[in-house]
Amino acid sequence: MLKNEVFGGQAPETREEFYTNYPLYRYWSVNKSDDLFSSTPINIYIHIPFCVQICEFCYYRTEKIKSQNDIDNYIESLCKEIALVGSRKNYSNTPVNSIYIGGGTPSLLKPKQFQKIVDTLRKFHDISSAEFTLETAAGTFNKEKIESYLENGVNRISMGVQSFDDKVLRMSNRTHVQKLVFNSIELLQDYNGLVVNIDILSGLVGDTYKSFSHTVEEAIKSKVDAITFYKFKTYANTAFYQKSLRNDKIELPTEQQEIEFMEFALESLKASEYDMWTTFAFTRNGYKHTYIEKTWRGDDCIAYGVSSFGSLSGMSYQNTNDLTNYTDCINKNVLPLYRQHKLSLKDMIVKELLLCVARLKSYEKTEFVNKFGFDYCEFLSKEMEYLCANGFIHNTNDLELTTKGILFGDYIGKVLAEGFKEKVGRDKYQLLY
Ligand SMILES: C[S@@+](CC[C@H](N)C(=O)[O-])C[C@H]1O[C@@H](n2cnc3c(N)ncnc32)[C@H](O)[C@@H]1O
Ligand code: SF4
Repeated sequence: MLKNEVFGGQAPETREEFYTNYPLYRYWSVNKSDDLFSSTPINIYIHIPFCVQICEFCYYRTEKIKSQNDIDNYIESLCKEIALVGSRKNYSNTPVNSIYIGGGTPSLLKPKQFQKIVDTLRKFHDISSAEFTLETAAGTFNKEKIESYLENGVNRISMGVQSFDDKVLRMSNRTHVQKLVFNSIELLQDYNGLVVNIDILSGLVGDTYKSFSHTVEEAIKSKVDAITFYKFKTYANTAFYQKSLRNDKIELPTEQQEIEFMEFALESLKASEYDMWTTFAFTRNGYKHTYIEKTWRGDDCIAYGVSSFGSLSGMSYQNTNDLTNYTDCINKNVLPLYRQHKLSLKDMIVKELLLCVARLKSYEKTEFVNKFGFDYCEFLSKEMEYLCANGFIHNTNDLELTTKGILFGDYIGKVLAEGFKEKVGRDKYQLLY
């Protein structure tokens, strides 16, 4: 009889190792729920690529608006795209969990233009119970617009504030000033049930400890429902980057200063009524942003509009970045797709470590175990010990972040993701831009 080297026992005498399923049925639990026959909810992202001015720091696909005609033509194409997707697959009975209209500055749309998008969405999607976010810029909306948003189901507004320091704002070519931001926030806060988020940039050109701490204090004082802090980065497609190449003087805070800015922000938020919701977003009333919660976890998201990103059944994809090409495709009844990436199981695990495990407060270890079938804390015990010994997390059997851990949330994700890749096999994908 042969000795089985791998399993340590005897090789079999019969040929009965015939699998039809895994795991064996005895491990299945009794469950008669028919949920599995209902449609899995989706999310929707819509891109509006127009702004009043182009901020020197901004890396998004947007352009300075020349006429309302530009917006009308774009919306025409957008609505055709929604119908085109609807003709490929019937989503009318698939519930939509969240809609995010971003940009650009979607609040530049007139009520009639906005209405046209929502009417078209309603024809092809079940948006009746969706969280509905609209991105705005201070001073680009009034009562009439807010009422049209509310009538059409918008329940969350995200406003780009960036800084409460007028000098810093001016250096970024921003048209608004602190006073206008307060007026716009107050206008929104008159409407019950409308969740208001503001975006702040940390480490922005021209910012000092004094100006940034003023920004943090004003943001907290404003009592908006959520404050999101993005770390400013000079991406290659920004005016600031071009200036730095030409050796024009841009007063960029150092990396160490930026850390001090955010240390101040975390201390101030801790002493206030805001709680961490992600490592860079804080809420006052436990409100979570469904669009982020769902899409970071990998739920399906349909992308509409130029340059928009989506993900369907594990395939990440992006529409074309070129506005003329976008319109041409739509006019020829062709989907305006540009690039795609099919996520392998390994990609999904790395993505989960980076986006959810290290960032989302609501993310528990059991969620990871249920999804992927192993405990990342045990599997990556060396990395967990390193993170704990260096004060990023409190203990090694769960990812409970310290204040330092919140500050370096993305680094934690990277340590875990690198450790995971090291163990299961390196690939060509770098974790740095
Ligand atoms: C698509 S922009 C839309 C914001 C809105 N149009 C406004 O009034 O600013 C979303 C957010 O991205 C952030 N952002 C833009 N450029 C950035 C950069 N270079 N680095 C980090 N975050 C950036 C800003 O905080 C901005 O509010
Ligand atoms: S930050 Fe907002 S307003 Fe400024 S260019 Fe970018 S999208 Fe437009």
